[in-house]
Amino acid sequence: MGRDLVDMLAGAPVPGEDVRFQPDQRPVSRGEFAVVALTHQDLDVTDRDAVAAMIAMHSPDVVVHLAAYTAVDRAERDVATCIAVNADGTGHLSDACADAGAHLIAVSTDYVFDGRATRAYGETDAPHPRSVYGISKWLGERRCRPSDTVVRTSWVMGVRGRSVVHVIAQRARDGQPVRFVDDQRGTVTVAADLARALVTLVRERPGGLWHVANAESLTWYELARFVGGWFGRDEGFATAITTGELEPPPLAPRPTRSDLDTAKWRARWTSLPPWTEGVDRLLGAWVAVAP
Ligand SMILES: NC(=O)c1ccc[n+]([C@@H]2O[C@H](COP(=O)([O-])OP(=O)(O)OC[C@H]3O[C@@H](n4cnc5c(N)ncnc54)[C@H](OP(=O)(O)O)[C@@H]3O)[C@@H](O)[C@H]2O)c1
Repeated sequence: MGRDLVDMLAGAPVPGEDVRFQPDQRPVSRGEFAVVALTHQDLDVTDRDAVAAMIAMHSPDVVVHLAAYTAVDRAERDVATCIAVNADGTGHLSDACADAGAHLIAVSTDYVFDGRATRAYGETDAPHPRSVYGISKWLGERRCRPSDTVVRTSWVMGVRGRSVVHVIAQRARDGQPVRFVDDQRGTVTVAADLARALVTLVRERPGGLWHVANAESLTWYELARFVGGWFGRDEGFATAITTGELEPPPLAPRPTRSDLDTAKWRARWTSLPPWTEGVDRLLGAWVAVAP
C-alpha cells in the first residue's frame, strides 16, 4: 500500500489506477506534495524516541501511517511483537504528530469486527475483534486522538506485493483449480483506489473514523470465480468450501463477515468504484508485468 501511495502523491503512474477517479474531483498534480517515504529500515515505529525524532526532523504537515504487523496467523503466536507494532507504534506516531503539529492518518482494519452483524459495519458499530491482529489494530485506533484520521479498510490488494488475488490469478493462468471459502464476506479495496482516497484525506484532514473500500461486498469464493472468469476459466475452476474445511485450519479466527459500510465516505466524497471494476483494472495491469 505504501508504495502505491508514495507514487500517487508524487504524481507518478500507479499500476491498476483509474486516472479518472479522484474522490474530491481534484486531479493529483506533480509537485503538489513534497513526500518523505520511510521504510521499516528507516524507522522502527516501536522505538518511541526514534519516531519523535523523525517527525521533529521532517516537521511534516501530514503523516500517513501504513506500518503494521500484518501476518494475521503468525500474530497468534507472536502477541507481544504484534501489539508493540500495531498498538504502541500507532500511539508513538499519534503522540509525535501531536507534539509536532502534524495531522496523523492511521490505517486500520475490518478485522476489528467479529462478524456477528447482519449487515455491513459502519463507523458507529462497536468493534469486537477475534484475533490478536484485530485486537492490536483496535488498540492502535484507541491510541489515536479524536483529531487524528483513522481509516478502516479491508482486503487490500494491489498490482505490486502479493495478496490472495495474485495466488488466484497465477493458478487461473496455469490451468490449476482453486478452493475458496464462501462463508467469509468482506469488501475488496484495490490499493490504487485507496491511494486516491488517502490523497483526498491528506488534503482535507477531516479527523475521526472513516470506512474506505470498493463498493459492493463479496466472499473469497466469489473473488475466485471472478478472477477465473477473467482468465476464461470455466465454472469448474473455483470450488466453494466452508472455513471449517480449510486444511490446515488457520491459527487466527476470521470474521464471517466484515464488509465495511462506506455511507459516511459517500456522503462527503465520491464512492470508490465497484470491486469488479477495480479487480479488472488490477488484473489488466498484473498480466502486463507478471513473470
Ligand atoms: N492488506 C490488507 O488486506 C489490509 C486490510 C486492512 C487493513 N490493512 C492495513 O493497511 C496498512 C497497510 O497494509 P499493507 O497491506 O500495505 O501491509 P504490508 O504490505 O504488510 O506492509 C506493512 C509494512 O509495515 C512495515 N513494518 C512492519 N513492522 C514495522 C515496524 N516496527 N516499524 C516500521 N515499519 C514496520 C513492513 O516492513 P517489513 O516488511 O520490512 O517488516 C511493511 O513495509 C496496515 O495498517 C494494515 O494493517 C491491510
